Amino acid sequence: MKIIRTKNYEEMSFEAAKIMAAQMVLKPQSVLGLATGSTPIGMYEQLVKWNKEGKLDFSQIRSVNLDEYCGLDGENDQSYRYFMNHHLFNHVNIDINNTHVPNGKAVDTKAECERYDALIESLGGTDIQVLGIGPDGHIGFNEPDAVFTKSTHRVELDPSTVEANARFFASIDDVPRFALTMGMGGIMSAKKILLMANGTKKKEILEKALFGPITPEIPASILQLHPDVTVICCVEND
Ligand code: GLP
Repeated sequence: MKIIRTKNYEEMSFEAAKIMAAQMVLKPQSVLGLATGSTPIGMYEQLVKWNKEGKLDFSQIRSVNLDEYCGLDGENDQSYRYFMNHHLFNHVNIDINNTHVPNGKAVDTKAECERYDALIESLGGTDIQVLGIGPDGHIGFNEPDAVFTKSTHRVELDPSTVEANARFFASIDDVPRFALTMGMGGIMSAKKILLMANGTKKKEILEKALFGPITPEIPASILQLHPDVTVICCVEND
């Protein structure tokens, strides 16, 4: 595991963007595993900037996102599909048909989860998976549990996650209570993992995840078992 500590959010975003750009230059048809949340926004801005300057090409890139809220469609500005279109896809030369987010409106969620795992497999897995970390140590929406779940699945969000994510919604009552998330199998099958963490609120959970026992109670702790993880963090100040 490689840990890069940065001075501030801007530097964290720039370091992460450099790694993503290197992946894309070395393999223009890369499969990028992408994440939402406030943490990767600056990285996406940098990738957009390089694309606009003609330095980075997305034309052959494929992407799979980690998760989506149940009940929200892509037109809903709180959905993760909307987030990705808004922060990245609408601003770069990616073929939108090559971008994938679980369908939060699927009626048969089991079938949707199976479809998503089959899709990831058909793409040959992800070349690089971007991750943030939730306040309870979740990655994607893999919440603390008694066991690690391998496949894409429907999950009930932890009350702390609902509370943490309420800042993006008009009121806490609007936060969906369920989500579809890539499981640990999908995440851990990525060739490389890029974990980003920003702000003092993430310091303690990040330390537990990286240096504590490997346990499904701290879902991100499973990353200790992955052979190629880069952590880029700025958790000493806000
Ligand atoms: C959500 C997402 C996670 C993300 C987390 C942290 O719960 N499902 O993928 O890592 O938020 O969000 P933030 O980066 O805003 O702290």
